[in-house]
Amino acid sequence: MLSRCDSTVLFTFILSIIVFVITSWGADVDSPQCVFFSVEQCPNITTTNVCRCHVVGVQSVICCHIRSDFELNEGLACAAVGQPNVTALHLRNVTLDKFDANSDRWRHLVSLSVTDSHVPRLVNVFGSRFELTCLNLSNNGLNEVDPRILTLLPKLSRLDLSHNNLTSLPELPEVSVHISHFFIDISDNPLLSCRSLSDMLSKYHDSKSENSVHFLNQKSTFCVHPSSFHWFDSIERVSFEKITEKAKVDKVCPRGDGYNCSCDPYRLEGSAGGVYTITIAVDCSSRNLTALPKSLPPFTVHLNVSYNSITQLDEISIDESYADIRYLYAEYNQIKTLTVLEGSRFMDKFTHLGLKHNNIKTLPVYILSHAVDRMSQYGDNSIISITLGKNRLHCDCTTSQVVKYWLISNQKVVTDFDEVMCENLDEKVIELDQNKVCMVQKDWSYYINYIIALEIILFILLISKVSYDYWVFKSAGYLPWPASKMPKLPCDWVFE
Ligand SMILES: *[C@@H]1O[C@H](CO)[C@@H](O)[C@H](O)[C@H]1NC(C)=O
Ligand SMILES: *[C@@H]1O[C@H](CO)[C@@H](O)[C@H](O)[C@H]1NC(C)=O
Ligand SMILES: *[C@@H]1O[C@H](CO)[C@@H](O)[C@H](O)[C@H]1NC(C)=O
Ligand SMILES: *[C@@H]1O[C@H](CO)[C@@H](O)[C@H](O)[C@H]1NC(C)=O
Ligand SMILES: *[C@@H]1O[C@H](CO)[C@@H](O)[C@H](O)[C@H]1NC(C)=O
Ligand SMILES: *[C@@H]1O[C@H](CO)[C@@H](O)[C@H](O)[C@H]1NC(C)=O
Ligand SMILES: *[C@@H]1O[C@H](CO)[C@@H](O)[C@H](O)[C@H]1NC(C)=O
Repeated sequence: MLSRCDSTVLFTFILSIIVFVITSWGADVDSPQCVFFSVEQCPNITTTNVCRCHVVGVQSVICCHIRSDFELNEGLACAAVGQPNVTALHLRNVTLDKFDANSDRWRHLVSLSVTDSHVPRLVNVFGSRFELTCLNLSNNGLNEVDPRILTLLPKLSRLDLSHNNLTSLPELPEVSVHISHFFIDISDNPLLSCRSLSDMLSKYHDSKSENSVHFLNQKSTFCVHPSSFHWFDSIERVSFEKITEKAKVDKVCPRGDGYNCSCDPYRLEGSAGGVYTITIAVDCSSRNLTALPKSLPPFTVHLNVSYNSITQLDEISIDESYADIRYLYAEYNQIKTLTVLEGSRFMDKFTHLGLKHNNIKTLPVYILSHAVDRMSQYGDNSIISITLGKNRLHCDCTTSQVVKYWLISNQKVVTDFDEVMCENLDEKVIELDQNKVCMVQKDWSYYINYIIALEIILFILLISKVSYDYWVFKSAGYLPWPASKMPKLPCDWVFE
């Protein structure tokens, strides 16, 4: 039986194991801190001590109240920064135009902090032999950073860029990111562009992967978006969480040999069941594509494939991933026909169909009418729009009788109805003169009639001449000209 004392010991033992497990597990996700000293630890400048940097603790140096490169160099020199025995450096309250990363003085530093200062620019690149594992650049009014500044660092695992004025983020060092946990803090940069943040996220943030980049202070991490980013509508500042949604979309964005499309969340759309879906806009414009992309992300409603060399639209009606498209921009391509769209789900629900500057030769009015009729059921033709301008149709009598009037009567839908051209005539389809186009055909049949009439007359004349010759031969015994001048043929013996 255990005594009370034994059980207390046992209990303490178990508790300490639990505490150990919790703390060591916590330590795993805890990020290391960079060298940091308070203002009180700044060197006192007196008449006897003029050095602005001094040694504090083990192998660490702090420099304060520096206003120029000259003062910085002087301070670093008097504290022997650059010697292998100085491995941590904190610069605080320094005012410099720029901080030069490519200096041998930083080579032996394992931890470097430049904080609570005014340093708007970071120039050059930290070298590949640098030892830095921790870099704190917090609260410096940083505005401009060489995008490649960190790329060569082999051991960096902690980066603090918080409380600055960054608009774009520097690239992370590939090597370091892949060896161990990498912690980055980019909170409170009020002008950070969402493009830059989402690029970084789609590259490195994967909540499932162990070896991904950990973003700290996510609650105060925001970015600002250009106004064209529909998805966020009126929200000026976009939260970290929203941007991670976008990063997920990027992973399934179409890409192929030598091209990448770009994918953005388009809108938040509610359905009858109260479930919201993030719809997607895919931009594959100007990618030299000769066919539509093979597969689109789920819920793609907006597709821009303008300025390519696409010749057909088969995927729209065949490929399941095209089923949600409502806005199709396929302008400036070489699309020849629209007949594949007949009966497709796209035709049942599209809002915009952009087909201007293509190679369409015949306009299947019955297919397009179906869509227009669908809209007129809702009493507003302006819900859908189609562009067809600068296609050169093969114009004939039917074009002038059907297509022309369809274009004119649907001009609210076909916004560039007056720019549809003829291929065989130098005319706009809406200006085709029915009398002229259809007359041309009548003229032809008239000629044929004349020729037939002429042939009949010639035939009758020939018969009459032969009959006359025969009558003369029978009654007068000689052949009139030209039959008399013709050479004798073997069959003539029959008559003799
Ligand atoms: C960087 O410095 C700031 C002070 O400006 C401090 O709050 C922060 O914890 C430091 N970050 C790291 C990683 O040491
Ligand atoms: C580094 O070594 C030099 C002498 O070689 C010494 O003066 C200095 O205080 C040392 N610095 C640190 C941070 O230990
Ligand atoms: C920062 O340094 C300047 C001199 O460069 C000094 O006048 C000022 O008081 C310092 N600020 C703080 C908060 O220590
Ligand atoms: C932040 O940067 C912008 C330019 O990108 C500049 O106009 C602005 O003055 C900066 N703000 C601060 C507080 O440095
Ligand atoms: C497409 O994107 C991937 C990853 O984002 C990149 O590695 C590749 O170089 C890009 N290709 C082109 C042609 O831009
Ligand atoms: C489609 O892409 C082209 C070329 O990049 C661009 O000019 C056009 O504005 C885009 N259309 C839409 C609706 O985004
Ligand atoms: C498209 O192809 C042309 C010539 O074939 C080339 O000059 C151009 O760079 C290509 N554009 C893209 C975006 O690949």
